Amino acid sequence: MNVFITKQVPQKGLDLLQEAGIAYTIAGNTLSQEALIAELKDYDALLSAGFVKADATLLEACRHLKVLSLFSVGYDNVDLATATSLGIPVGNTPGVLSRATADTAFLLMLAVSRKAFYNYHKILDGKWQEFEPVADLGIELDGKTLGIFGLGKIGYEMAKKCRAAFDMPVIYHNRRQNPEAEKELGARYVSFEELLAQSDVLSVHANFSPQTKELFNKDAFEKMKRNAIFVNTARGGLHQEEDLKAALESGAIWGAGLDVTNPEPMSPANPLLKMPNVCVLPHIGSATVETRDAMAVMAAKNVIAGLNGERLPTIVNAEVYG
Ligand code: DGY
Repeated sequence: MNVFITKQVPQKGLDLLQEAGIAYTIAGNTLSQEALIAELKDYDALLSAGFVKADATLLEACRHLKVLSLFSVGYDNVDLATATSLGIPVGNTPGVLSRATADTAFLLMLAVSRKAFYNYHKILDGKWQEFEPVADLGIELDGKTLGIFGLGKIGYEMAKKCRAAFDMPVIYHNRRQNPEAEKELGARYVSFEELLAQSDVLSVHANFSPQTKELFNKDAFEKMKRNAIFVNTARGGLHQEEDLKAALESGAIWGAGLDVTNPEPMSPANPLLKMPNVCVLPHIGSATVETRDAMAVMAAKNVIAGLNGERLPTIVNAEVYG
């Protein structure tokens, strides 16, 4: 039994594979889809780290795979319907990255509120001048309303941090209500329109899907408060980038913090990078030693279960088991 791994992953996961008697190969470089399909002919499983588009073309050409294990919680790059119809179980890494990703959202919120990246660049550019009482002022977060779009595990962690640090009341919009968040954090369920209208900080934690694609667009930004900070650590496709730029330029919203962009990587020439009230990070939500170790273990366990014909511990397409 063997597995092809598209990028180097932490040793803890590799050790587990080895202990289970599973041989692995780690790709030396990023492969085109065609090259990946050719490689996979000789493998029983794929552990996919980084952006691998597992669409119908790849899945149909690799229908022999016993498992597709994702080194991510997000599965928007997989054609799940095709995987299920071909009997390929798909696993992901939920839960273990919630705190690290929420830390990133919190970091961006705070950084935007004090124009931190812009001010740092002022030093680099030799523009740190005398004390100016009214230059580059930020806004404070104490008691401001936090709006969460998609209050699952990551959104919950973000809400918890914001309540503890800044006593921020929490409102949220979800497909389903979250009784735990309502009980533990006093979170209040609101409509999407109310979320837009009432949030001082609006943090996005939902899955990317045809339903959420570019939901944060001109229309949405215009309904937000003029002092609002928009934070996206989920997927770049949830916001419309040109509309976001326009909203920031016109003052429709106050600032934005992005760990995800559309496309990724963002071009260094992107004007968002020069805006005082914008902070952008290169999709580092889960990038801590602890979290990446835990993701590697989880992804390896999914590979091992799949190759042994067992149910994956964290399965995305449970329908595959009928
Ligand atoms: C995830 O796990 O989905 C992260 O965003 C990395 O893609």
